[in-house]
Amino acid sequence: MKRRIKLGVLVSGSGSNLQAIIDNIEKGLLDGEIKVIISNNADAYALERAKKHDIPCVIIKHSDFKSREDFDLKMIDVLNSLCVDLVVMAGFMRVLTPLFLNAFPMKIMNIHPAILPAFPGIHAQKRAADYGVRFSGCTVHFADEGVDSGPIIIQAIVPAYDDDTEDILAARILKEEHRIYPQAIQFYAEGRIEVVGRKVRIRGSERIPETPLHNPPLTAF
Ligand code: GRF
Repeated sequence: MKRRIKLGVLVSGSGSNLQAIIDNIEKGLLDGEIKVIISNNADAYALERAKKHDIPCVIIKHSDFKSREDFDLKMIDVLNSLCVDLVVMAGFMRVLTPLFLNAFPMKIMNIHPAILPAFPGIHAQKRAADYGVRFSGCTVHFADEGVDSGPIIIQAIVPAYDDDTEDILAARILKEEHRIYPQAIQFYAEGRIEVVGRKVRIRGSERIPETPLHNPPLTAF
């Protein structure tokens, strides 16, 4: 029987990835249950989304704590009291301390709107658009001590065009975020994820065809 994993979701803002997770749980496609949503921002729209679906929320303001560790300890307490199996960072805008990382080893996922290791950190979509990349995308990875640097679970590629604005590229990427995040969590729920060093193996997953992509398309070669 498939395991229904207990999720703790960390948010700071709009929570569209949270919404994708909720929707897929409600559709029966994701074998998870959100035990708690923790927001460091009392005004996060993610909290409205949570209310609509009757999911318990806890606001933990980082500014109420004298150190990053104290803030993280409070989150650890809440998550452990609910026996959370997997911590899901969904637009959570705080860097986690080693204290938090060690409390949930390889049990914290993050999503980043770029093809890591390119464009880690903030404003990834703007930096990619300004750089003139021909492809961009998003990455779900396990969190580690670095910024967006942990083992990669799944990536999606989207084309980027020379007339893309930051917003247009971000919207194209976000659509794929909403697909790959529930998928990564489902792989975890199915117990199919194996991490060896930097490499993540998804047991039983199909190998994609070796089809190169070109942007712009090749005309003759
Ligand atoms: C997304 O691009 C996510 O990758 C980034 O923040 C953006 C907003 O996410 N970390 P959400 O709508 O709050 O899920």
